[in-house]
Amino acid sequence: PAAASTAPRLVLVGPPGSGKSSVALALAERWQLASRDTDGDVETTAGKTVAEIFVDDGEPHFRALERDAVVTALAEHDGVLALGGGAVLDPASRAALEAYRDAGGVIVFLDVSLAHAAPRVGFNQSRPLLLGNPRAQWQALMDARRPVYESLATLTVVTDALRPIDVAERIEQEL
Ligand code: S3P
Repeated sequence: PAAASTAPRLVLVGPPGSGKSSVALALAERWQLASRDTDGDVETTAGKTVAEIFVDDGEPHFRALERDAVVTALAEHDGVLALGGGAVLDPASRAALEAYRDAGGVIVFLDVSLAHAAPRVGFNQSRPLLLGNPRAQWQALMDARRPVYESLATLTVVTDALRPIDVAERIEQEL
């Protein structure tokens, strides 16, 4: 299934630790496509890491850069696109995602439990929103965002205990 050739073949959404970036790589390799992720695009634009942007410029600035990255990637990228965990919260990004989906685009929600997300995230300094009490913060983010992930998704895969390659296989079967 495919939207126009200038649209991503598939978009991955979900919380930190759901495996978005590694599944994007696995799918891209399988399908011989490019993979891209909005955190990476934001870091390239800003010339610094996501964590540095949060510290130096604040979350609102990060979210503005992220919105530009999402809208641009949805318009230009024709491979597999992974979004940052919070990218679905911005209204303009959400509208762009809905338009992509309504034009036939595939949005996959990678669902995961805290127990399986925790070791993947590692809860280190690279995720500024999860400092303090990382497990509680992660669960609060997930509870607040789950309805948004679910409302956007055309397909949901629970990635608990699955390797990226297994998730990629499952997505391919479901398409
Ligand atoms: C965020 C998730 C991160 C990154 C930033 C904010 C979030 O991406 O965009 O730290 O709000 O959930 P990952 O989902 O790839 O960890």
